[in-house]
Amino acid sequence: MTIEPTDSSPPVQIAVVGSGYVGLVTAACLAEIGHAVICVDNDEAKVAGLARGEAPIHEDLLTELLGRHLGRRLSFTADLHAAVRGAEVIFIAVGTPPLGSGDADLSYVESVAAEVARSLREYRVIVEKSTVPVYTSDWITRVLLRNGVPPGQFDVVSNPEFLREGTAVSDFLHADRIVVGADSDRAFALMSRIYGPLASGRYFENSGSVPGSHSLQNPVPLLRTSANSAELIKHASNAFLAMKISFINAVANLCEVVGADVSEVAQGIGMDARIGHRFLSPGLGYGGSCFPKDLKAFRSVGSQLGVNLDLLAEVERINLNQRERFLKKMRDALWTLRGKKIGVLGLAFKGGTDDLRESPAIAIVQSLLAEGSSVVAYDPAAIANAERILGGDVVFAKDPYAAADNSDALIILTDWKEFAELDLSRLRKSLRYPIVIDGRNLYPLEVMRQHGFHYVSVGRATVFPQSHTAGVTKLGR
Ligand code: UDX
Ligand code: UDX
Repeated sequence: MTIEPTDSSPPVQIAVVGSGYVGLVTAACLAEIGHAVICVDNDEAKVAGLARGEAPIHEDLLTELLGRHLGRRLSFTADLHAAVRGAEVIFIAVGTPPLGSGDADLSYVESVAAEVARSLREYRVIVEKSTVPVYTSDWITRVLLRNGVPPGQFDVVSNPEFLREGTAVSDFLHADRIVVGADSDRAFALMSRIYGPLASGRYFENSGSVPGSHSLQNPVPLLRTSANSAELIKHASNAFLAMKISFINAVANLCEVVGADVSEVAQGIGMDARIGHRFLSPGLGYGGSCFPKDLKAFRSVGSQLGVNLDLLAEVERINLNQRERFLKKMRDALWTLRGKKIGVLGLAFKGGTDDLRESPAIAIVQSLLAEGSSVVAYDPAAIANAERILGGDVVFAKDPYAAADNSDALIILTDWKEFAELDLSRLRKSLRYPIVIDGRNLYPLEVMRQHGFHYVSVGRATVFPQSHTAGVTKLGR
């Protein structure tokens, strides 16, 4: 049920526990829309860096917001008890990483809830911000009661985030919707005050407000549901988006066999308003800290509750198979991989971030190393993180052309904008052989043909330079 926004109201005192990808962006954006926010973290080094205005993650606009509000409406501490005592609302945004079983590890959520319970002296709202399975709000309630908080002295609310890495600040302030799963009117009233500036559109009238699709005339919709429904909305949203990506990858694989062009197919199906154009880009399969983890957690919820979600097993299978198909394309183009020098563009799981969690690019590089290839890799933001994982096994280049220099082939694994704007004549001269295998479809086929490349991509025809095909049958697709 969408709710009409409340009138303008005084700032809310908020504590955000966890200053990771979600907690930090949430804290900075809540300060940006006018509230007094204390962000808590048990990593003292991280707290010290943040107190100096240093953003530990690669997020557009985050440094600007920290600069605007640090020391005024936004502060950082490792002292959770002090932060909780001063706050009316406590957001829990700590990690919920996957366990080996695929379940979400909720131990950090539980330990924070227990610590919060020991600090509560009067009515508080506890907000689940991290992605958690349905029924977590019930468990948080139990933990608070078991730790001596009287019933009625708290409410637990589910307020899931829909933040994409790299664009998380814009995704927060210009959200498609704000979901508030509140089972009590008192708790919902407080959440309405918090999100009032966005739900009324008043925030967008401020000079210096972050630009985007919303405005005073087009405010952010605020949806009220039960806590359980809100928890399910998050998992179901990510599962659906992951399914959409696996669907277009399966269609791309079919296009390769029948000689269709997946770009045309995606455009054609995306023109159906019920399908839409977004999240129909084929590639190496989805990665990141959310889709793989949330899909496993959602499947696990289904099996724990006796509901069959095996559809999602096929989504995962298609996703992982994309990496194998890419390696096969490399063997079809290069024959043996052992001893070959491969230039690699992109290590992050997607363009615009330095995050390597579940990155298909890292998995492919590790497969190449295992097959005896030598790898020279470039990424605009993720090399520092990659050095910690790949260590001395990979040479890191200072730019794309250095990665291509005298390489037997160049492979494109991350959709960084700069990889779609290369000087192709210079690239062709740098490579030992003019072979580009593109996992992200960054170039039109005709452009690569004109520049004399053997160009392999996803769901589209392979392009051969004229001189290389005389007298040779078509190489494997
Ligand atoms: C988290 C969840 O893992 C993810 O499912 C959800 O979608 C978004 O929130 P993220 O913010 O990336 O993702 O977690 P992480 O980057 O690990 O940050 C968690 C922060 O909480 C870390 O800085 C950690 O030091 C801190 N933390 C963790 C605490 O302050 N206290 C704890 O008890 C545990
Ligand atoms: C995702 C969800 O979009 C976000 O709502 C949720 O809160 C967290 O998880 P994120 O993982 O940061 O965000 O990145 P996203 O942009 O969704 O991309 C996820 C993966 O899918 C990336 O590996 C990306 O390369 C891939 N992808 C995305 C495709 O392969 N094709 C597409 O069309 C879109």
